[in-house]
Amino acid sequence: MHSDIANIFVIGGTGAQGIPVISALVKDKRYSVRALSRDPDSRRAKSLVALGNVAILEGTFADEAILRAGFRGCDGAYINIDGFNTGEKTEMYWAIRSYEIALEEGVKFFVYGNLDYALKKAGYDSRFRAGHYDGKGRIGEWILFQNQENKRRMGAAVFTTGPYMEMAISARTPMSPSVEDGVVTWRVPLGNGAIPHVALEDCGYYARWLFDHAERANGMDLEVAIEHVEYRQLAAAFERVTGRPAQYIDTDIEAYWSGPLAAAADLPAGYNASPDDKSTMSFRDNFTGFWNIWKYGVIRRDYALLDEIHPNRIKSVEQWLRREDQLGRELGKGGLWERVQPENMVSQAPILKVSEDNRRGRL
Ligand SMILES: NC(=O)c1ccc[n+]([C@@H]2O[C@H](COP(=O)([O-])OP(=O)(O)OC[C@H]3O[C@@H](n4cnc5c(N)ncnc54)[C@H](OP(=O)(O)O)[C@@H]3O)[C@@H](O)[C@H]2O)c1
Repeated sequence: MHSDIANIFVIGGTGAQGIPVISALVKDKRYSVRALSRDPDSRRAKSLVALGNVAILEGTFADEAILRAGFRGCDGAYINIDGFNTGEKTEMYWAIRSYEIALEEGVKFFVYGNLDYALKKAGYDSRFRAGHYDGKGRIGEWILFQNQENKRRMGAAVFTTGPYMEMAISARTPMSPSVEDGVVTWRVPLGNGAIPHVALEDCGYYARWLFDHAERANGMDLEVAIEHVEYRQLAAAFERVTGRPAQYIDTDIEAYWSGPLAAAADLPAGYNASPDDKSTMSFRDNFTGFWNIWKYGVIRRDYALLDEIHPNRIKSVEQWLRREDQLGRELGKGGLWERVQPENMVSQAPILKVSEDNRRGRL
């Protein structure tokens, strides 16, 4: 199957996840990419075009005609539907339609950008409900189920990631640090739990691997992470890398929601989801479930498999921090200690496009 794939339609290409994925696909010109964007004039869309072998298709995934135009003539697809735009319910509909239309249009290999079906993995206990997880995770299972019948007409793989490590050093994320009396501080409701954070750069490698090994990847759910990161470890590693003090403060969920995220707590998690629709989860409900998933250890990863697929993967939070410190210096952003100072954190381009766009944009 591998040698057939040349042209890949990407949804979410201008996003935090899409940029390293597309970079990995086109770096040696092995693949060409057609990336969907509502905003081809954005700095991110232009930076993709500048990579070479990337064209932008203007439009929204919430439109069958656009999906059809996107898949037509492509033999691969990388589909990351933005649930923080749509909300859970609408995300599921367009993810299903993406799979169906890709099949109809003759795509040969479909990669679905997934998150864990945490509600199921937690035994259907609503304390672990996070709409942006379940909205993907249900469809990930549905695609693997369809693929049992369809795998020779169109192969499919599910690529299950998790919270980007980058978010722990960035402004306006659920785990943004503060600096308190000169100590870098993470106040999050994680208890003694751990987050299987992912490195965006390694997501590029894994996505590329899936297309390069489409035969083996057909039917696979590739679940990735650096490691399960306890935030005490994160703080200790930050101290070792920067030589500056850092701490993790386990925070009561009520205190968390009266902190910096208070203003967003009652808004819909998806900015175009209707607050009047009873299926719409608020940030508070959505991310309370999210934190419980990590606090109570719901999610597993097979690190031996990841070592086999990506022997040079980033294997620890400390290794990730060291690389990021180095990369930031090379790019003129300064070291990590400088980068997490509040005034510097807010002046950097956000890691998430949704933050760069101030949670605005059409469905
Ligand atoms: N934050 C995390 O740690 C994390 C980790 C794993 C998975 N995810 C999931 O990844 C998804 C978001 O992607 P991201 O993390 O890369 O965030 P991001 O940086 O905010 O990017 C959002 C992407 O979605 C695209 N998009 C949004 N609405 C669209 C629409 N109607 N039509 C076409 N494209 C649309 C944007 O493209 P344009 O603006 O150019 O149209 C952009 O490429 C979410 O579903 C989230 O749950 C997030």
